[in-house]
Amino acid sequence: MAAPDTATAPRAIHRLDYRPPAFLVDSADLHFDLDPAATVVRSTLVLRRNPKAEDRHAPLRLDGEGLTLLGIKVDGVPFPKTHYTLGEDGSLTVPNPSDILVLETEVRIAPEENTAFSGLYTSGGNFYTQCEAEGFRRITFFPDRPDVMTRFTVAITADKARYPVLLSNGNPAGAGDGEGGKHWAKWEDPHPKPSYLFALVAGDLVAVSDYFTTKSGRDVVLNIWVRAGDEDKCAYAMDSLKRSMKWDEEVYGFEYDLDVFNIAAVSDFNMGAMENKGLNVFNTKFVLAKPDTATDGDYQGVETVIAHEYFHNWTGNRVTCRDWFQLSLKEGLTVFRDQQFSGDQGSRAVKRIRDVRGLRAAQFPEDAGPMAHPVRPDSYIEIDNFYTPTVYQKGAEVVRLLHTRIGAQAFRRGMDLYVERHDNSAATIEDFRAAMQDASGVDLSAFAKWYEQAGTPEVTAEGEYDEAARRYTLTLRQKTPPTPGQPEKRPLPIPVAMGLLDAGTGREQPTRLQGENEARTGTRTLMLEDAEARFVFEDVPAPPVPSLLRGFSAPVKLKGLPLDQLRTLAARDTDPFTRWDSGQQYAAAVMLGMVAAHRRGEPPGFDPALAEAVRANLAGADADPAFAAEALPLPGEGFLADQMDLADPEAIHLVRRHLRRRIGAECADALRETYERLADTGPYSPDGASIGRRSLRNACLAYLAAAGEDGMRLARAQFDAAANMTDVLAALSLLAESEEHGPAALAAFHARWRGDELVVDKWFSIQAMSAQAGTAARVRELQRHPDFSLRNPNRVRSLLGAFASGNPYRFHNRSGEGYALLADAVIALDPINASTAARLVGPLGLWRRQAPPLSGMMRRELERVLAAPNLSKGTYEKASKGLA
Ligand code: PHE
Ligand code: ZN
Repeated sequence: MAAPDTATAPRAIHRLDYRPPAFLVDSADLHFDLDPAATVVRSTLVLRRNPKAEDRHAPLRLDGEGLTLLGIKVDGVPFPKTHYTLGEDGSLTVPNPSDILVLETEVRIAPEENTAFSGLYTSGGNFYTQCEAEGFRRITFFPDRPDVMTRFTVAITADKARYPVLLSNGNPAGAGDGEGGKHWAKWEDPHPKPSYLFALVAGDLVAVSDYFTTKSGRDVVLNIWVRAGDEDKCAYAMDSLKRSMKWDEEVYGFEYDLDVFNIAAVSDFNMGAMENKGLNVFNTKFVLAKPDTATDGDYQGVETVIAHEYFHNWTGNRVTCRDWFQLSLKEGLTVFRDQQFSGDQGSRAVKRIRDVRGLRAAQFPEDAGPMAHPVRPDSYIEIDNFYTPTVYQKGAEVVRLLHTRIGAQAFRRGMDLYVERHDNSAATIEDFRAAMQDASGVDLSAFAKWYEQAGTPEVTAEGEYDEAARRYTLTLRQKTPPTPGQPEKRPLPIPVAMGLLDAGTGREQPTRLQGENEARTGTRTLMLEDAEARFVFEDVPAPPVPSLLRGFSAPVKLKGLPLDQLRTLAARDTDPFTRWDSGQQYAAAVMLGMVAAHRRGEPPGFDPALAEAVRANLAGADADPAFAAEALPLPGEGFLADQMDLADPEAIHLVRRHLRRRIGAECADALRETYERLADTGPYSPDGASIGRRSLRNACLAYLAAAGEDGMRLARAQFDAAANMTDVLAALSLLAESEEHGPAALAAFHARWRGDELVVDKWFSIQAMSAQAGTAARVRELQRHPDFSLRNPNRVRSLLGAFASGNPYRFHNRSGEGYALLADAVIALDPINASTAARLVGPLGLWRRQAPPLSGMMRRELERVLAAPNLSKGTYEKASKGLA
């Protein structure tokens, strides 16, 4: 099947085509007359030719999409039809504008028909907006690009009984009653902002309120707006918000800059949340939490996302992005900041482990697949497709590299300088790097390559010990595999944080590099800048074990450490990240050996060191249960698949299952003892230590349940008795694997929670991720369940996303039915919500990672998606790049 011919194929936008805007908008006065079927938006824009524009005679072009134009005036006078054109793409062009003009437009839109949730839409009878990246053009005519920053005032009129609450950005500036049961409210945002940060929320909502006193003594009103009945689920979000505000003052000196900070929660949302100035809009999943409905993971998600959106107020809003290729300027930096914040709230090491696990699970595969792109992409067809783990998580890693390279103090000076230079303006990634460079005096030019080059670098280490000379030579080499459009890669500057352990005693040794006068103790950082570098250590009394990439000092794959060294590091390293990682790498190596044996038809065998490691871990668990909980489980199926030339999801799953059963049986006593010792967790609290104890206990339960019926009975008892969702869900996910216990437990769970949509999402996910043979058929059937709807993105993700991304074993079912059902869903969803459809199609694009016949079946489903009539730009981009 061929791709659509190039004449009709959507066009790519290129980074190097950036041109400054022809016109700037000094102020925008908006008036909304809200009605679900026909909302009228009146806009008054004060426009002025941009002195920095290249073409001083360029026409005035305003973006628009799906707008019905009702009226247009220029400088107060009706504008004749002959003086402007409406483009096929919905835009409005004035070919001969004066250099300064006041443009008034009146348009009509239909929020209730907006199922894409971009622009102004309705959800549960209320109004919400989503404007990033290009949604504002679906509300009114405007130069909808982030480098046009404008002062907005907004007036909203609506029926008072149905829409008692009327919110927009900035500070409240008046309210009152109008005619015919209507009322109005006015909002003024004193800070210039790009259109993508515009927001409006209106409806029947209630606020949970609090306040925060800033460092300069101003009281800020904090409101979280939810549906009536959800007020008891806002406490943790509010607490997280106050801690975030305090942290940003203490660590970066950033103070909040409005009188009120509003958060509105909505059930229909394409992403996690949105940082609109003074009016964040959140997916309910990242606001609502109470112990009996939300898991520990949900609580952590709330804390992280609340912090992330709040931190955008300075990194994203006060200083924004010049164009969408610079997206990581705000996203990578803000993820780095929310990671720092969460690390400071509890255990830094455990937070780091979780973040790296996430990076490896989502970003590494992206970097090795058809959608691989640099942190600063060079082109896109649909910008929605570039809100990716690469832009967010790898972007955060690159900011961390700069932080590591220049140190915390210089980094803080660099942030100050960055904001001083670019406050109230739209900046580039180069601007950020320049500020860091100027503040630190360190030449950071080589780090630009981290933003320009896609792919995950592979680092190999080779050590040589010279007993006579008491000298140890460490050779580090780097290589980045080719990615689409980038066949040749250059070496990157890679900081390798490291130390040396004595191979015999496992003790950390002081290190002295050739040429240094004194030995150093503890971790030091080597810079690998070329394809290969040698580091010579003197006075090394005995053969050492190198501990490399401590704290995951760079987003690379470290390859080829011998098994005995990994074991020493897993048991003895002083750096908790490397200790954890070495344990995982050791287990992965053993398991990959078992996978190979399985494929040859040989019995799997068993490495007793794995059981020993579990026992040792449990014996020392009390010192740091949260760390023990990270170290206890075997590496995941995806992590193992990524280390094979071609994945074999079935063999991986069977080996992992076999091993879990075996370890569960061999270590049953110790597992049971730990499980029982941690039984009394007291009233629920989402602090790090309590989460650690629950995680450890549930990790023990998982092994015990894998080992047999005794463990399953424990799970059943926990399911029946537990008072918090973390423990209920941990038990349910185990029971769901059992033909005996699964159906009854799932039915009971649904009956209990059918009224809570976020819990029903969990009910869908658990079934989608089951290893049971009928799972693909079950997922098909569940799409017809009365609680399922393609219109709700959370529901789509909880069933179809969980199946395709969280259940490799059953998604890659030999029958191909997993692929077919995903393609069917993408085709059905694309006309409803293209951006969610484009996300959903991703796993099919990774067909090259599978062996035949799976790869061929995946490719054919991708071709079927691409052949669907009227495919959206975004889904077209994902499917066509997947086939290229
Ligand atoms: N900018 C949002 C964030 O990272 C994400 C987002 C992008 C939300 C596009 C909606 C649409 O916090
Ligand atoms: Zn963000």
